[in-house]
Amino acid sequence: MSTTLITNITSLVTNDPERGDGPLGLVEDAAVVLEGDRIAWVGQAKDAPEADHLHDAEHRSAIPGFVDSHSHLVFGGDRTQEFNARMSGRSYSAGGIRTTVAATRAASDEALEANLLRYLREAARQGTTTFETKSGYGLTVEDEARALRIASRHTDEVTYLGAHIVSPDYADDPAGYVDLVTGAMLDACAPHARWVDVFCEKGAFDGDQARAILTAGAAKGLLPRVHANQLSYGPGVQLAVELDAASADHCTHLTDADVDALAQGHTVATLLPGAEFSTRAEWPDARRILDAGATVALSTDCNPGSSFTSSMPFCIALAVRDMGMTPDEAIWAATAGGAQALRRTDVGRVVPGARADLALLDAPSHVHLAYRPGVPLVREVWQKGVLLG
Ligand code: NIG
Ligand code: FE
Repeated sequence: MSTTLITNITSLVTNDPERGDGPLGLVEDAAVVLEGDRIAWVGQAKDAPEADHLHDAEHRSAIPGFVDSHSHLVFGGDRTQEFNARMSGRSYSAGGIRTTVAATRAASDEALEANLLRYLREAARQGTTTFETKSGYGLTVEDEARALRIASRHTDEVTYLGAHIVSPDYADDPAGYVDLVTGAMLDACAPHARWVDVFCEKGAFDGDQARAILTAGAAKGLLPRVHANQLSYGPGVQLAVELDAASADHCTHLTDADVDALAQGHTVATLLPGAEFSTRAEWPDARRILDAGATVALSTDCNPGSSFTSSMPFCIALAVRDMGMTPDEAIWAATAGGAQALRRTDVGRVVPGARADLALLDAPSHVHLAYRPGVPLVREVWQKGVLLG
């Protein structure tokens, strides 16, 4: 297998705690050797071994490719009008999801896949090399299964979210919809997904319904993750920890008991600042969660309703400016944190054996991602050992 030496990296974030320089494991004047789709060697440029190909990073800094562990990219239509109304004072409600459900059902497979690819490429240009995405805008057996089939052609991290809202077809029979989500819809969807998710929120699914849905998914081999405590206080976070979910996502409205549960369990708190930005909601308090000792991930939540951004650098800048995170914490959360939220050890770190995923920045260090918000600093993206064009 051919090897490539990327050298002249001013400052490299490895997220390798073994390097003894805090969680980011920074290496100055670094080089990395890629072999096929894996990282073969990491260290100082002066100690680098020879390789078949030489690639000059021209004194850029480098970080692991971003791991966006939460997006909703299989959808049709857009919700510009809803956004405009919000920016004129209307508040966000989960009801807008119905608009996207109608547009998604009406879209062809080809149109859905082309749309997904458009946002994947957009995210990749901004440094995302691993992403999770979900169903949740079909809400029929066929439409949920096709969303997952389409998603699974482009990522291994596919989540069944039949329980996004109660389908409009079951408006008078929410219990019947939970039966569908835990029955025929789950049977059709489980072969195409790794995860099961539920929007545990007033107006969507309550704690008992969420427990039934996650437990039924687990019985079919799907691992749980939860949309929890986004719009209001509720049982989602503690349920996620109790079921050992990989991640509780949003975590905007947390009681002290919720924070304690996160600190004591293994569930990652995935914060999605694009959603608070786009809905003019209050920010999740990352500082409080980190100070309690819990693990935080950052992701985009990219979807046409509450957070129409695919940019991890934008989310990092918001998290640093408005959620009390340091730049180092935010970079870790957007890379290694996302990997932990997906229970992955092969991505989110630049260590031998890990996947060869790197983002090279037109900046002397990773801190510039927060220091220079809105500036396209991601210059080169390597994914599975290939430089993306
Ligand atoms: O994560 N909270 C639920 N689902 C999405 C929003 C979906 C939409 O508005 O279309 C979210 O923010
Ligand atoms: Fe979401």
